[in-house]
Amino acid sequence: MYVDALELLKSDHDTVRGLFQQFSDAKEADDTERMRTLQQRIFRELEVHTSIEEEVFYPEAEKVGGEAEDLVKEGEQEHHVVDVLMKEIAALQPDDEEFVPKMTVLIENVEHHAEEEESELFPKLREAFGDERLQRIGGELAEAKQRHESRLSSEGDERDRDELYAVDDQD
Ligand SMILES: [Fe+2]
Ligand SMILES: [Fe+2]
Repeated sequence: MYVDALELLKSDHDTVRGLFQQFSDAKEADDTERMRTLQQRIFRELEVHTSIEEEVFYPEAEKVGGEAEDLVKEGEQEHHVVDVLMKEIAALQPDDEEFVPKMTVLIENVEHHAEEEESELFPKLREAFGDERLQRIGGELAEAKQRHESRLSSEGDERDRDELYAVDDQD
């Protein structure tokens, strides 16, 4: 199956934008339980997406040089900022007073970053690479995405097991 790299990444961005909207609805409704569920789904999407960009996409994009290379280096730093925020937020409870402000800043950062990729970086790569090469990169992205998704699922299973044992220990 052929998948265009830029379309795959754009579709990931749209998935996250949809989750941001749901998070903002949950925030309006003061539904902390739903905010936690959505935060976890958002983090999972972001972890997979930033991993495949850093492993497969950015190294290719950097080869274009010039402004594309600068945008990639900037992008890596934006991923880093989001990574730091995700670690801090994961350690908070949704009713912690820092939870919503930190989520708001994370959402603003990701929205800005995704917009910049789509409007500045992607057009340069469409021009530099052409459809065939973008489909080859797309295939590699799809493969890396599956690998990271199953890694996160198995880590989630391990966490569930650990929690189960932790409860057992208390008995
Ligand atoms: Fe990115
Ligand atoms: Fe992206």
